[in-house]
Amino acid sequence: MSINDQHSKAATGGNEKTCFIKTYGCQMNVYDSQRMEEALAAAGYRPVAAAENADMVILNTCHIREKAAEKVYSELGRLKPLKQQNKNMVIGVAGCVAQAEGAEIIARAPVVDMVFGPQTFQQLPAMLDEIDDTRARGDKPKLVRTDFPATEKFAALKAVARKPVTRSPSAFVTVQEGCDKFCTFCVVPYTRGEEVSRASGDIIAEARALVAEGVSEITLLGQNVNAWEFEGVRLDGLLAQLGEIEGLARLRFTTSHPRDMDAALIAAHGENDKLMPYLHLPVQSGSDAILKAMNRKHSAADYIELTKKFRGARPDLALSSDFIVGFPGETEADFEATLALVEEVTYAQAFSFKYSPRPGTPAADAEAQIDEAVKAARLARLQALLNAQQLAFNHAQKGRVLPVLFDKPSKNGDQMSGRSPYLQPVHVPFSALGLDDATDAANALRGRILPVEITGTHANSLSGIVAV
Ligand code: SAH
Ligand code: SF4
Ligand code: F3S
Repeated sequence: MSINDQHSKAATGGNEKTCFIKTYGCQMNVYDSQRMEEALAAAGYRPVAAAENADMVILNTCHIREKAAEKVYSELGRLKPLKQQNKNMVIGVAGCVAQAEGAEIIARAPVVDMVFGPQTFQQLPAMLDEIDDTRARGDKPKLVRTDFPATEKFAALKAVARKPVTRSPSAFVTVQEGCDKFCTFCVVPYTRGEEVSRASGDIIAEARALVAEGVSEITLLGQNVNAWEFEGVRLDGLLAQLGEIEGLARLRFTTSHPRDMDAALIAAHGENDKLMPYLHLPVQSGSDAILKAMNRKHSAADYIELTKKFRGARPDLALSSDFIVGFPGETEADFEATLALVEEVTYAQAFSFKYSPRPGTPAADAEAQIDEAVKAARLARLQALLNAQQLAFNHAQKGRVLPVLFDKPSKNGDQMSGRSPYLQPVHVPFSALGLDDATDAANALRGRILPVEITGTHANSLSGIVAV
């Protein structure tokens, strides 16, 4: 056997390692997990669907919800017996809890070998080498990487080879990291660091590579995506450049802050045909006193005015938002101001939460914390209103013909699902198209945009038939 033969055997044979990444939190984490998988693939790791037999397990964590860190510790408790069976297993904690807790994680959960923040996963192969070296010396690895080299991370995104996959036609591309806004309830400025924009050339190259793989819808991601700016170009300019990529049919972006909206981005919603009529624009509260205490730096009237401008540019725009109820000091009148704002703006979709104190954020120390039962009652009232608006928005689509970008077979088997321009899931029976098998249906429809007549409307989705 020649040296070359031995080499190729080692590369493809029994040496292959496996990894399992569990992802929590926002789309930025979903995106980061995909990039981690690619970085690990380059180091010889194949992704598997469960932690049980994996050589490397990563929890990519989120810090936004209550008791986020506690949930990570109990998940780590469940991994402990697996590691006892496989001493070579490497356990890593990544993401925002990792950034916030750092070395504390290994101190409390010694089963963990490495802790790394959202800005450092490009160093994964080097970190794994370090872990091997530590173990070879007979020591227990305790690697902690929680610095903030965001620009280095963006540079690494470019270098990682993408694997060819039969993939979803919708993809995310991170364009901006971090947040400088310091809303008084939020951990993100502490876990993700300051706002950094990725270079437009790199974004466009990544978008082109995705389109070459069959992607036709790209959602630009950033904690404050509308703060993106590179060499004097702002988000509207980037969207215009992306709109020129042939084969790219749909553009979206999330999440925006009302304070960073400019006239050009509003106008783009009327001018850029590829930009979908859907905008996630969190308001959090409809009370000026609460908005001030949250450090949002805009009033309820400013926000309402902004939504009117958007609808002026794009009358059928579907709006979505985030709300927090029971922020410290929130009175019944403050809460009613939120209901009034919702009544006035009307949303197609929304996310709403009870305020939960995040240690280290200013609001967590406020004295006027709201009783849990009051928070729960307010959340129920707000959600009843938001759900009614969502249902009304969905009902209003009945009888319309909407372009649907098809993605994958629905869970119930005999339907394909896709998304409307307003981001609603749309289910279509494929038997009506002469296709009787989910694989055939996926092969025939995935990635295509077809007109669908909406015949059924539900709380969270639409159904219809292809109108040809
Ligand atoms: N950068 C985005 C999203 C941040 S996190 C923005 O500014 O809109 C997503 C949502 O989680 C927030 O919009 C907020 O509604 C919610 N959230 C964040 N911290 C929270 C807390 N301490 N309690 C309850 N909800 C919170
Ligand atoms: Fe958090 Fe506010 Fe920044 Fe959004 S804008 S990430 S809510 S601090
Ligand atoms: Fe969560 Fe971090 Fe995203 S705290 S919401 S994973 S930015």
